[in-house]
Amino acid sequence: HLSKTDMLARKNAEAELGGGQKRIDAQHKKGKLTARERIALLLDEGSFEEIGKFVMHRTRDFGLDKEHYLGDGVVTGYGTIDGRLVYVFAQDFTVFGGALSETHAEKICKVMDLAMKNGAPVIGLNDSGGARIQEGVLSLAGYADIFYRNTLASGVIPQLSAIMGPCAGGAVYSPAITDFIFMVENTSYMFVTGPNVVKTVTHEEVTAEELGGASTHSTKSGVTHFACQNELACIQHIKQLLSYIPQNCEDEPPMLPYEPQDESRPNLNTLIPDNPNQPYDMREVIDELVDAGSFLEVHKNFAENIVVGFARIGGRSIGVVGNQPAVLAGVLDINASTKAARFVRFCDSFNVPLLVLEDVPGFLPGTDQEWNAIITNGAKLLYAFCEATVPRVTVITRKAYGGAYDVMNSKHIGADMNYAWPSAEIAVMGASGAAEIIFKREIAEAEDPQAKLQEKVQDYTEKFANPYRAAHRGYIDEVIYPDQTRLKLIRAFKMLENKVASLPKKKHGNIPL
Ligand code: COA
Repeated sequence: HLSKTDMLARKNAEAELGGGQKRIDAQHKKGKLTARERIALLLDEGSFEEIGKFVMHRTRDFGLDKEHYLGDGVVTGYGTIDGRLVYVFAQDFTVFGGALSETHAEKICKVMDLAMKNGAPVIGLNDSGGARIQEGVLSLAGYADIFYRNTLASGVIPQLSAIMGPCAGGAVYSPAITDFIFMVENTSYMFVTGPNVVKTVTHEEVTAEELGGASTHSTKSGVTHFACQNELACIQHIKQLLSYIPQNCEDEPPMLPYEPQDESRPNLNTLIPDNPNQPYDMREVIDELVDAGSFLEVHKNFAENIVVGFARIGGRSIGVVGNQPAVLAGVLDINASTKAARFVRFCDSFNVPLLVLEDVPGFLPGTDQEWNAIITNGAKLLYAFCEATVPRVTVITRKAYGGAYDVMNSKHIGADMNYAWPSAEIAVMGASGAAEIIFKREIAEAEDPQAKLQEKVQDYTEKFANPYRAAHRGYIDEVIYPDQTRLKLIRAFKMLENKVASLPKKKHGNIPL
C-alpha cells in the first residue's frame, strides 16, 4: 500500500520518464536531448517550475484510451535565465513523437497567456511529428489557438523558437510568427510538406535535410536566424540573444556597467581602401566600434550583402545594420531588404536603439530582382526605418547612393544623428555613371571623348563624391574622424536615451508585404 506522498512521487517519476527509457535512449542515439534535459540546460540551475505535469489527453479513438503519458508530450513552465523570468515549453519526442494534441496545445497556451499577463519572453523548444493524427481537427484547433496567441503576443513579449527535431506541416507557422528561429544542424528540419509529398506533387527527389534542414534555412530561405552546430550551442545562442533584449515592449534592454576608457580606434582611419571599388569587411568596422566581443550576428549566412545583429556600445544594447561591401559591393536586393527590415522592426518593437553603418551603391538591377518585386521588398526596409521610434544613428563610411541613401536611415526619414566619414560619397550615383549621363553629348562631341569623360568624372567626383554637400545642408550632423567614431556613438546613444517619439494614431499601418 503506497502512502499519499509515495503516490505523488510515483506519478512524478512516471511523468519525468515521458515515453519511457527505450524511447529516451532512441532520442539520445539520434544525438538529441530530451525535453527535460533541454530545459535543464536552458534555465538557471534549480529555477524550473513545471506547470501541468500530470495533464493527459482525452482521446478515445484508435486505441488511445489505453495509451496515456503524464504531461502529454510537452513539458511547460517557467524559470529564470541569468536571473530573469522566462516561460518555456519543450515538446517531448518520446511521447507520440511530440505530436500536438488538444491538451498538449492547451498546456502551451497556458504558459503563453501567463507570459503575456506578466510580460516575459516565451521560449519554445520544438521537436514534434506535427498534429496528433488520432485527434484530427482537435489538434488543428490546438495549433490555431497557438498561432493566434503568437500573433497577439508579437511586439508585446519576445518569442523565441528553437527547432530541435521535426517541425512540419502547420507546425511551422508558430515558429514563423515568433521573433527568432534557431535550428540545430543535422537533427532538425522545417517544411510545409515533407520529401514524400514533394516527390508525388513535383517529382523532385530531395532529402529532408536538403529540403528544410538548418543549412538550407540559414542560407537559402532565411527562415531560420541561427544554424547551431548542436543543441548545446543552440541553447547558448538563445541565452546570449536574451541578454540584449528587454522582458517586454515596455521594458528597456539590460544595460551592463561600463567604465569610460580610451575610445579612439585608430585602425578605422586606414580601413577604407583608397579605391572606392575595392571591398572591405563591414564586420571589421563593427568589431572596432562595439564593446569587445559583443557582436551577435543574426542571419549570418543569409543575404550576406547586409550584416545585422545585436551588440553593446558602452554597455548599452544596440541593433546594428550594416551594408557589407565585401559581398555584392553591399548592394540592396530583395533578401537584404527583408532581412534588415525584419531586424529593424524587432529592435523598434523592443526598444533596442539602432546603429546603421552605410556603404551602399544602390539597389540591385535586373529582371530577377524586378520580377520578384524589389520595389515592394525594398519598400519594407524603407517603411521599417520610417516607422522606428527608437534612437537611430547612422554612420556613412563610404557610398550612399541614390534611393538607397534615403532608405538607409537617412535624416529625412527620422534618424536622430547622422555622421559621415571623410571618405563618404553622398550622391545620386557613382561619378562615372553620372558623368556619362549628364555630359553624354559633350563627351560624344569631344575630340577625345575618353579624356573628356575623365575630366567630367573628375569634376563630378570633386563636387559630389564627398560628404560636404550633405553636411552643408545639415543632412549630415557632423563629418567625423573615423578613429573618433566609437566615442561619438557612445555619447550620441547616451544623449538619445530618453528619446520620446510617437506615430500618428492609427489602427495599424499597412507595410508593403
Ligand atoms: N501523431 C501521432 N503520433 C505520432 C505522430 C503524429 N503526428 N508523429 C509521430 N508519432 C509517433 C509514432 O507513431 C511513433 O510512436 P511509437 O513510439 O509508439 O512507435 C513515435 O511518434 C515516433 O515516431 P517515428 O515515426 O518512429 O519517429 P521517426 O524519427 O522515425 O520519424 C517523423 C519522425 C516525424 C518524420 C514521423 O513520425 C512522421 O512522419 N510523422 C507524421 C508527420 C505528419 O504527417 N504529421 C501530421 C501533419 S502536421
